[in-house]
Amino acid sequence: MNILLTGGTGYIGSHAAVELLNLSHDLTLLDNLSNSKPTVVEKIAEITKKSPEFIKIDLLDEPSLNDFFQNHSFDLVIHFAGKKAVGESVEKPLEYYENNVKGSINLFKAMSRHGIKKLIFSSSATVYGMRDVEKFTEDMETGMNISSPYGRSKFMIEEILKDLAASDPDWQISLLRYFNPIGNHPSGLIGEDPNGTPNNLMPIIMKVAKGEIPELKIYGTDYDTEDGTCLRDYIHVVDLAKGHVAAMNYLSPGVSIYNLGSGVGTSVKEMVEAFEFASGKPLPHSFAPRRPGDIARIIADPAKANRELNWRTTLSVKDAMKDTLTFLKKSPASRENNYIP
Ligand code: NAD
Ligand code: UD1
Repeated sequence: MNILLTGGTGYIGSHAAVELLNLSHDLTLLDNLSNSKPTVVEKIAEITKKSPEFIKIDLLDEPSLNDFFQNHSFDLVIHFAGKKAVGESVEKPLEYYENNVKGSINLFKAMSRHGIKKLIFSSSATVYGMRDVEKFTEDMETGMNISSPYGRSKFMIEEILKDLAASDPDWQISLLRYFNPIGNHPSGLIGEDPNGTPNNLMPIIMKVAKGEIPELKIYGTDYDTEDGTCLRDYIHVVDLAKGHVAAMNYLSPGVSIYNLGSGVGTSVKEMVEAFEFASGKPLPHSFAPRRPGDIARIIADPAKANRELNWRTTLSVKDAMKDTLTFLKKSPASRENNYIP
């Protein structure tokens, strides 16, 4: 198949590109490089021995996007492109709605105009909103009590896609709700390398290991969980990438929705222990009050994806930590604390 990946040089897009190239699909990666580097394309080629096409376009640049679609034909689009920093979205809501919602509308309009009506969209567990449940299932109501403009932009795009599919039966759309992606390709050649100060757990752990942040603060030790720290459903990004291949193989008319998660919760303390096990060294950390907006557990029920997509996670948090260490060893790092061998 001839596939377009928007946001294809980003963290998840680059891992999906590897899986799809390994299956001999033809790929074009479209990105404005606002949160990724063009060198990722060479790394993908190094891993797969195949070269995807790369095109630098901003989804907000409608004329360039239309020119591009005028000259290219695709069977399917996987739409990863978007801004994803939760805290920044609270400070700059208009930028987030414009980039994520308007950028998506521009893409869907261009696809529609050129008769490309197969789409996989990167959504997030954040659309379920803040609520205290053991596990999230796809039939639960979405849109209530979402903690950020980022999260609401994902909810809005999901709703737009439902309306689009209702208006035209030719659309085949899969909404994939990711839980917490971690890890990287085992080669260590690609991985998450965020610009600026991260807020998510794994990028912070990596910066502590590189000596760029003195310690990890574990937010909250009095949650109603076994060790008092929050539980999240961490999913290895290679498993997540394979979820896109599965979704692609089972696309059907209308909108289908899938949770992509492992179904298993891991606590923040367990994450620290898993990293320490992989590195063989203690990770500097301290305990701090709860982070506003956090809830005790966010865990997927992945049964629908297991059943309908014939997909399930095969890699563990332990695998993700091992691969993260490989990535860290290959990245230019400040080794002042000599943490990374
Ligand atoms: P990422 O930032 O690494 O990748 C996104 C890519 O999109 C970047 O390369 C960026 O340069 C590009 N981009 C952003 N706006 C663009 C625009 N207007 N035009 C063209 N390119 C643009 O993020 P990621 O972690 O790979 O996430 C991919 C998708 O998955 C995002 O939509 C994100 O919201 C979603 N998601 C991510 C997570 C996570 O924890 N990483 C969780 C749930 C959902
Ligand atoms: C966060 C976002 C969510 C988004 C997701 C993307 C919030 C409230 N939620 O979710 O909308 O979809 O990222 O992956 O921002 N932790 C620490 N110390 C740190 C950082 C994190 O203890 O320095 C803890 C957090 O309290 C949480 C866990 O680690 O319990 C995971 O945090 P994080 O990686 O930010 O993900 P989420 O909170 O699940």
